Amino acid sequence: MDAIVVQGGRRLHGEVTISGAKNAALPILAAALLVREGRCCFRNIPRLRDIATICTLLETMGARIEVAGEQVEIDAGAVERPEAPYELVKTMRASILVLGPLLARGGRARVSLPGGCAIGARPVNLHIHGLEMMGAEIKVEHGYIHGRCQRLRGADITFDLPTVTGTENLMMAATLAAGTTVLRNAAREPEICDLAACLRLMGARISGDGSDTIVIEGVDELQPVTYEIMPDRIEAGTFIAAAGITGGEIRIHNCPARVMGAEINKLQEAGLEIEREDAADGERLAGTTVLVRGGRSLRGVDVKTMPYPGFPTDMQAQLMVLMCLAAGTSVISETVFENRFMHVFELQRMGADIEVEGRSAIIKGVKMLTGAPVMASDLRASACLVLAGLAAAGETRVNRVYHLDRGYFQFERKLQALGAEIRRVRAGNS
Ligand code: EPZ
Repeated sequence: MDAIVVQGGRRLHGEVTISGAKNAALPILAAALLVREGRCCFRNIPRLRDIATICTLLETMGARIEVAGEQVEIDAGAVERPEAPYELVKTMRASILVLGPLLARGGRARVSLPGGCAIGARPVNLHIHGLEMMGAEIKVEHGYIHGRCQRLRGADITFDLPTVTGTENLMMAATLAAGTTVLRNAAREPEICDLAACLRLMGARISGDGSDTIVIEGVDELQPVTYEIMPDRIEAGTFIAAAGITGGEIRIHNCPARVMGAEINKLQEAGLEIEREDAADGERLAGTTVLVRGGRSLRGVDVKTMPYPGFPTDMQAQLMVLMCLAAGTSVISETVFENRFMHVFELQRMGADIEVEGRSAIIKGVKMLTGAPVMASDLRASACLVLAGLAAAGETRVNRVYHLDRGYFQFERKLQALGAEIRRVRAGNS
């Protein structure tokens, strides 16, 4: 397994361009299953391990896929195996996103239960319950979800809690259902709006995306499209935190600042200077440039992770590592996932003063972190440990960086270009 080795103490400076959003790309690539005839072309797709996984999954179903750089073309016309096998699903939970589209396009699906991961149990009961309300017969046995239906029918569904991929799965399923579907207590993440915009371009009739109530009027078929996905707000937030923790100054291009209000406000409260350089056109997500200065001393802040538009759980670890070096005490409460503090134990090994009490971590700022060999446990924890290494005295070796490669394209190269002393070490080399 590859590792990343960082020599700390360098201030980052220069420019970085944010890649396409992983969590917009995954549902949008799955949506290609809803197009029974013709070839979809998706642009600004990040070259990530998870993207490769969903492309492999779609190919095993029979879809024809062509990947050229950040463009993915998919013809799902020949899909004849509506299955998502355990071997693939166990490497990427988001594979569950093919369930709704498969039932909508052909009335059959056999999808492995995703199972849990490092950050929590990650159940999919809300996905299943919603599809049953739309008329699907679903059996869960031997670790697989077996679904079948004639044609899904519209339903009025209220989620127990705002689930991002649950909202996406049912929104996709509803586009080809007979009648109207209402999703209440729906998630409001920007990636859901990106998916809805793509589905509307395909001919779907969707309104209310971005609010907690989404209305979808079913149609008989969807058309192939060319669509460019939004930039990744979590990658952008990670680079803002990198400027903050190294006291550097970086210009971030393609930063979707308009949908990053909670994290930008919180990072400004922590002492970062963050300003948009083209405030004029707030509407466009791509193309916004943000200048970040981290030179001032960091101040401790309190935060609770919440569904959008609250502070995103995917930025929790990146904020925590900043707070390790901030003046004062901070309290970070993780309300979305039950086990998303695995990075705490690794940060403690680097000299951080953190105590976990239930769903909250209490962080007392220290003068310095010291480099150490550490273990990545999940995608965002990996990024947080690299950020810690950028600021720590000495050398940090982050092991198991395959987690990082799931969600960050060439992370170490982008950091190198900003002046970091960082390199990837292939498994087995020193
Ligand atoms: C999406 O996961 C993201 N993944 C996650 O990003 C992100 O952390 C999460 O939303 C929260 O924002 C993708 O979009 C591919 P949820 P998802 O369903 O949809 C509970 C990353 O780092 N729940 O919104 O799986 C669940 O246990 C990843 O890129 C049920 O109880 O998250 C959790 O406590 C990590 N039953 C809460 O809802 C269900 O059927 C929110 O989960 C579904 C969810």
